[in-house]
Amino acid sequence: MDAPLLLVGCGKMGFALLTGWLGRGAAAANIVVVEPGRAAAQAAVARGVTVAGEASRVDPSFVPRVVVFAVKPQVMNAVVPGFAGYAGGDTVFLSIAAGTPIRFFESGLGAAARIVRAMPNTPAATGRGMSVLCANAAAGDADRRLCGDLLAAVGEVAWVSDEGLMDAVTAASGSGPAYVFLLIECLASAAVEAGLPRDLAAQLAKATVEGAAELSRQSGEPAAKLRENVTSPGGTTEAALKILMAPDGLKPLMTRAVAAAAARSRELAG
Ligand SMILES: NC(=O)c1ccc[n+]([C@@H]2O[C@H](COP(=O)([O-])OP(=O)(O)OC[C@H]3O[C@@H](n4cnc5c(N)ncnc54)[C@H](OP(=O)(O)O)[C@@H]3O)[C@@H](O)[C@H]2O)c1
Repeated sequence: MDAPLLLVGCGKMGFALLTGWLGRGAAAANIVVVEPGRAAAQAAVARGVTVAGEASRVDPSFVPRVVVFAVKPQVMNAVVPGFAGYAGGDTVFLSIAAGTPIRFFESGLGAAARIVRAMPNTPAATGRGMSVLCANAAAGDADRRLCGDLLAAVGEVAWVSDEGLMDAVTAASGSGPAYVFLLIECLASAAVEAGLPRDLAAQLAKATVEGAAELSRQSGEPAAKLRENVTSPGGTTEAALKILMAPDGLKPLMTRAVAAAAARSRELAG
């Protein structure tokens, strides 16, 4: 966390990372943010870091150990060349852009550039994210450790060596929080159908998902075991699970949903 860091883009994800790094003891004096947006720049300034409106305004004496690309994939083409000057030295480039392959950065920064691609998710904003990382051959052990530590500041971290798996990662943990939010919505609307007032139904659905997730985390038991623990033979939970676990139930639906997300991720990567 003592390494000089250059964060490019301080929107939702960039700001979550910045908050995580500072919370883990990174010195604000070692962090420079490039962010053209006024509100996002002000939020970064309030955290005590140096903010530049564009790459050319970064103090030339500042040499980052890591450049973190946290801008939207659509602007990456325009953004990356501004930082190519750091390639070739001791700098590793860490991208969190969805669907943007390592080869994209190698072509913009040079084949010898050290690249780590990561896929985080939005719970990173609470320090409970899940990030999966993948590095190119030029990135060494120290680069990998450093990038892993930067993502570990906002949650759990896992690595894959086959970049092809990043589409499935995107479909599972990247998009996954949206599936859980939908579950909360569906449980709430089903509770309304069952007769509960809307406010109470929403409260029950949200607290139940949060409580079940926390129980799963704290107990360390597999989800299937926890499910069995709350299912008495002939009881109410079993009546519901007979429907959710039917051949046309939740499992095939989730399988199709994740497959569709993975296919879309492959399409976007081109
Ligand atoms: N949000 C997610 O769930 C999620 C999950 C996994 C990965 N990601 C990835 O994380 C990245 C950031 O997503 P986000 O949701 O944080 O987006 P965001 O909130 O829009 O943040 C991107 C930030 O980059 C700024 N920016 C635009 N052009 C720039 C430039 N030339 N130089 C520096 N900064 C620039 C934007 O400023 P303006 O607003 O002024 O344009 C904005 O503040 C994306 O690549 C996305 O694929 C996001």
